[in-house]
Amino acid sequence: MATDRTAVIGFPVDHSLSPIIHNHWIKELGLNTKPYEKINVDPNKFEEQINNLKAEGYGGLNVTVPLKELAFSISDEISNVSKKLRSANTLTLSSDKINADNTDAVGFINSLDKKTIEENITNKKTLVLGAGGSARSVVHALNELGSQVRLFNRTPEKAVILLNDLSINSSPVSTEELDNYANSSSFIVNTTSLGQKEGEHNNILSFENIEMDTFIYDLIYNPKRSSFLEQAEAKGLKVQNGLRMLIEQAACSFQIWHEIKVGASDELMSLLESV
Ligand code: ATR
Repeated sequence: MATDRTAVIGFPVDHSLSPIIHNHWIKELGLNTKPYEKINVDPNKFEEQINNLKAEGYGGLNVTVPLKELAFSISDEISNVSKKLRSANTLTLSSDKINADNTDAVGFINSLDKKTIEENITNKKTLVLGAGGSARSVVHALNELGSQVRLFNRTPEKAVILLNDLSINSSPVSTEELDNYANSSSFIVNTTSLGQKEGEHNNILSFENIEMDTFIYDLIYNPKRSSFLEQAEAKGLKVQNGLRMLIEQAACSFQIWHEIKVGASDELMSLLESV
């Protein structure tokens, strides 16, 4: 489906890196489309504003916080994964309907090296920190990859709801259990927002007794090294930030709209790292 006008919507959306990513591919491929934009959409006027954008000729919208659940709720045709996560990050608008998809989980999977999946995830114990919107996608992805995934959240009730919603046969990790479970996990991913603001330090997990072959992932990409990753790196553990996932989820949206496969080239990674 060729899509002439595309954009990311959020509230606020000003700091989104999605325009740099999509416009890099649009330019590289020489596509005859308008530049990808960023647009603030008020959650209280969501449906009305989406209809306005449709009337203005927008055919593809990426959706970021706090609009992903609203995007899901107003859509007519919803992909299986979007249904499962009850949220949408990719809308395709046509004259008679809105299609919803969610590329966060596949973006997370595509951000991982094959070796990491084989050695640290499939049939292995994994730990997710947090139970917000991004945790949903990550827990779903880890479950799909065949890992025994458990999660810890500051507010345990939210972890119970998340596991129930996704029909995952697992239980939340309690505060008392956290260190022991983390020490037996081969992949640990932080999906909480702790570390995004300057001066915020990881006080959720101690890396003191973590096994040396454990892979540590943080969805945060700004700062490039969160305090969580800094602490893990200081201990000599393998680490990855969320930049590649950001690109890979964008690549899946790009493919839905333009039917062209793109990916995280070194050039694009460096471009984003320099922002
Ligand atoms: P996102 O959509 O990015 O996942 P979210 O839905 O607001 O964002 O979720 C944020 C997550 O970070 C939640 O799991 C939150 O924990 P609570 O459910 O207890 O609120 C977690 N979080 C945020 N700040 C935190 C902090 N200082 N310590 C521990 N967890 C934190």
